[in-house]
Amino acid sequence: MKDIRQPDIVVIGSGISGLYTAINIDNSLNVLVLSKGTIENTNSILAQGGIAACLNKEHDFKLYTNDTIVAGSKRNNMDALKTMILESKNNIDILIDLGVEFDKYKNNELKTTLEGGHSSRRILHAGGDATGKEVIYALRNKIENKSNIDLLHNSMVIDIKKESNYFSLELITNDKFIKLTTSAVVIATGGIGGIYKNSTNPRIATGDGIALAYRLGCELDDLEYIQFHPTAFYSEEVGEKFLISEAVRGEGAYLRNSNGERFMLDIHSRAELAPRDIVSRGIFNEMKKNNISHVFLDITHKDKNYLINRFPTIYNKCLAEGIDMAKDFIPVVPVEHYFIGGIKTDVEGKTNVKGIYACGECANTGVHGANRLASNSLLECIVFGMKVANHLNLNFNRVPLSKSISVKNIKENIEDYEVETTKNNIRETMDKYVGIMRSKNNLYKAKDTIKEILNEVKKTNIKNKEYKELENMALIADLIVKSCINNKESIGCHYRIN
Ligand code: SIN
Repeated sequence: MKDIRQPDIVVIGSGISGLYTAINIDNSLNVLVLSKGTIENTNSILAQGGIAACLNKEHDFKLYTNDTIVAGSKRNNMDALKTMILESKNNIDILIDLGVEFDKYKNNELKTTLEGGHSSRRILHAGGDATGKEVIYALRNKIENKSNIDLLHNSMVIDIKKESNYFSLELITNDKFIKLTTSAVVIATGGIGGIYKNSTNPRIATGDGIALAYRLGCELDDLEYIQFHPTAFYSEEVGEKFLISEAVRGEGAYLRNSNGERFMLDIHSRAELAPRDIVSRGIFNEMKKNNISHVFLDITHKDKNYLINRFPTIYNKCLAEGIDMAKDFIPVVPVEHYFIGGIKTDVEGKTNVKGIYACGECANTGVHGANRLASNSLLECIVFGMKVANHLNLNFNRVPLSKSISVKNIKENIEDYEVETTKNNIRETMDKYVGIMRSKNNLYKAKDTIKEILNEVKKTNIKNKEYKELENMALIADLIVKSCINNKESIGCHYRIN
């Protein structure tokens, strides 16, 4: 393992928010970025549709603000929202300077698309439907050329302790325990899809940073707001589901039931392009009514060459599954997609614990309200990632850190505990009882099951990555279920049947 330099700042997470924050931290500060897996295994790299932005402030500021508020059921934090929209163009320009090649017309003008809840075409995309990949690779290239940043893969932080004016961190990196100290920590660990049976997230997204923050005393908020994406590719396999971007509907696709009918026309004036919570519930009800496992997305009215160029990733994935989207309907189902709640921060990404920052999906500025508008997530990553970097650049106080970095080999201490089975039990429970429609009965069933798991987990003290992940999953599931029970109001993506 290569030597680790004493970090001034540790960034936990290697998705777009973590990498972008690290890049924008002043060159004079040593930054250590920790990735639980690799940058190839992040939620960000899977992002397809794009990044929304207010490119024409005069025309679009009001409309964009209004679309976000309508999607968010008016629960949005207005300071955060104003910041995100006003600072969108500047951060997009920075991404372009960093080498991100957004799709353009022949005259060099940026191409834009539409997604659910947007009243105008303001979503930039790259590589057709590979926006996340384009951005992540550009950020990775930049990081490789920045001498103040170290990136450590396969590194899971298992504990953070606040000392007088610094933090000590314990991590598991491959087969080693590492202890190190730092003056500030940025948590950018992404979502929680790994605690659901079916999700568009990679399994690795288990809310670890949120669990670390909670144990440190950081406030969490809005944990009941979990967004289900309407259109994941339906297959019988469970686990990580392939996303069929909302941009496919933005470019004209229809949702059809098994009789071929467009059922969204009766539900909302924007039909397939209604805000995401409404479309997901529309599909869910349609599936329930007809006792079917999925519905269909139909874009067969578009030209094959257009589809291949506009949606290369989706086209090829569907083809590999035996579906030619130019000729066949795509089977789709709503699945867990995005965690709106998380670690409570102000607009600069500061938590209530001095020196701990959070940004991206694990953070909760309140910008999305009770339901996130499509393609606002990558925007949130860059705008608030920049805010965190700016705050650190202006306020960083290097404290003399006396302790050095210690590295120890891990001795095998795995006890006979069925970690994977228990993880699957959590996932089953969350899918079954804490889904799109929530009832009091089901939430209490979830509460009991998760509580039992949590109690079991607390009795054991195994220090390995799998087990620590299980601990975090149980804790996050418990906190989510309690928030769902406490909020009896149906609002945004938290829908209570009773
Ligand atoms: C998508 O491409 O549909 C996902 C975009 C998002 O989650 O906002």
